[in-house]
Formats: sequence, structure tokens, C-alpha cells
Amino acid sequence: MSSLIETRVFNNADKIIEGWYWALRCSDLERGRARPLSFLGREMVVYRGEDGRVVAMDAYCPHMGAHLAEGKVEGNSIRCLFHYWKYDSNGKCIAIPCQDSSSFVPQIRTWPVEEKYGLIWIWAGATPRHPIPYPPELEGRECDHRLANRFTKSCHPNVVMVNAIDAQHFNSVHSLPVELNLEAEEINENCILFSNTTSIPRASAFTRFLGRFYKDALTYTLSYWFASTGTVTAGPDFLHVYLIFALRPTEDGRTEGQTILVTRKRRGLFGKIVSLIVLMLSRLVAAYFAKGDTLIFETIRFDLRTPIKADRAIIRFIQHAERQKTVSWGLSDEDDSEPAESTAESKKSFAATLKLPVSERG
Ligand code: FES
Ligand SMILES: [Fe+2]
Repeated sequence: MSSLIETRVFNNADKIIEGWYWALRCSDLERGRARPLSFLGREMVVYRGEDGRVVAMDAYCPHMGAHLAEGKVEGNSIRCLFHYWKYDSNGKCIAIPCQDSSSFVPQIRTWPVEEKYGLIWIWAGATPRHPIPYPPELEGRECDHRLANRFTKSCHPNVVMVNAIDAQHFNSVHSLPVELNLEAEEINENCILFSNTTSIPRASAFTRFLGRFYKDALTYTLSYWFASTGTVTAGPDFLHVYLIFALRPTEDGRTEGQTILVTRKRRGLFGKIVSLIVLMLSRLVAAYFAKGDTLIFETIRFDLRTPIKADRAIIRFIQHAERQKTVSWGLSDEDDSEPAESTAESKKSFAATLKLPVSERG
């Protein structure tokens, strides 16, 4: 039987969806430090300059290909270890020790970077079009956070994300005594929201007790960003906990994930203690999500050949993922990472430097 849903972007390791992806922990990059980073299959160097800002750029020096993470951070620039060419935070070559670098300007591609929730995030694409993922209820609010576990899964992030909207499996794998019904709503082209509409059944004394803490439906809301990072909002009306599962694909389509616990900022000593307790509770909720599915993600070959009504939310998500913009990511000639004019320009000037016609430069 062939698949009912043919996909081009969803669960495709060769397509990189434009968006923010977590890169590394802020605390792993001190001022003046450079690190190599394999990011969505692309080799990069990330460094923190003297001004505290993080720079992410392609790894290989345009001179002879040395990895820039071997180099030295100088001020807000990085110097290649091999022949000491120096690049500023925009990737522009600003010094070539043995000649005047102004005669031609080698350029390295840099990537937009932000820091949030104790993580460094890199935008795969030219210019960020949306903020770093956040739980919708916390929009515009100051937050406290903790980083929880880092994990890997043997399948694509898109497939891992399906799990949290897979209503059926909450009953089978996680023994949840509630039938979830997740309504989808697209917030923008990169963000889709799923909200549960069902109430806790009054079947047992336990569920009747639980039901007292929910005025309407059982709160279980997900926001999915760039089809790769998801936030979860859950808990009784008086206390919502927020988790973020930041996922990124590896070159071969596996997942590298980082769990983030978030709560709104509370003032004063008492507020800080409350936040600490809420974050501890959030950790337990995150552990609940992580338990039970581990083996499935080691062996699954995702293929929704027989969707049923209960898989509605999953189908909405796959359709949403299919509409995501992808970025050219390889290092081939069509790669949008090299602005065509500036490359031609630098080839011309470089040829001039060597007194060669451009064609001989190849
Ligand atoms: S390879 Fe970097 S300066 Fe030569
Ligand atoms: Fe699960």
C-alpha cells in the first residue's frame, strides 16, 4: 500500500526548514572562546567576542580552508590560525598580514544569532522573520527558565513532534484517562497551535477530583514552530507549566533535542521560591513526556498509511510542515549562502591581485 500523504518537506533530512534552531548552551561559550559546531549538517564556528555577542559563521577559511575554530578570537573578530587572516563579526576579511587586504575582500557567510533561555539559537536563513519560540501564554512576559535534559532520537524532529499531538498514544503508551481532541489553528506561516477541547471524564473519584481544577477543557496546548521546536502548556487553571522541546535535525535526519523549563518571572524572595518549585514540577511533567516512547523512536519508519479520525491533528501538522519555507543549505553553486555579486567581485579583484585573467582563476 502506498502512502496516503506524499510529503516533500516533512520528515525529509535533505530539506532544512527556515527558522530558529538551538545551537549550544550559553554557558558553554565564554567571552573570547571559539567552538566548532556541526549545525543541521553544516560546519560552523561560533565565538563570543569581547562585547559578549555571539557570532556564528561558516567554518572554513576562504583562503585555504582551515577550520576557523582552530583560530583565535581577537576583540570581536576571529583570526585564522593558518595564515592569520582576520575576519570581523560580519564575516568580512579585515586583515591579511602579508598584503593589503583592501585590494580584495574575502567574505564568509554569517548567520543570525540570539540568546534566550540559556541557549544560543541560530536562524537557518538570511533574516529572522519570527521570534525565538515561546509558549503563547507567555508572550511578551519576562520569564525564568532552567535547562533540563539534552537528548537524541533516531528519527527526524518532525516525527518526534508528532508524538505530542498523537491523541491515541496518550491512552495506549501514557495511560492518560482522558481522550484528547486537539484543535489546530495556524498562528502564522511558521507557527501552529493545537489546543485540547475535551474535559476530564467524571468516571472515577480520581478524575472527578482532578476535574475540580479545570473550569473548562483539560489544558493541553502546544505551539509548534518551524515544525521543529514545540512548546507545551499543561496543568490546572491555577498553575500552568510550560515546557519547550527544542529540536534540530542532524545531517542524517536524526534529532538532537534540548528540554527547556519556563515559568513567568515572580518578584521577591517568595516569588523566587514559588518559581523554583514550579520549575521542579515542570521537570516532572517533562519526564512524563519522555517516558514510554523511547524505544518507538529508535525503530520507527514513519509512514502514516492508515490515518483515522483520531489522527486529524497529525495530518494538520504534516500539511503545515509541507508549507514551510526551506533554505538552500549545501555548499553547492546554487547555494543562496554566497551572494552572487560579491563572489564575482572578489574573484575579479583576486585575479587582479595575481595579475591573472578571471577565467584562469577558474
Ligand atoms: S587558511 Fe586561513 S588564513 Fe590561510
Ligand atoms: Fe509520548
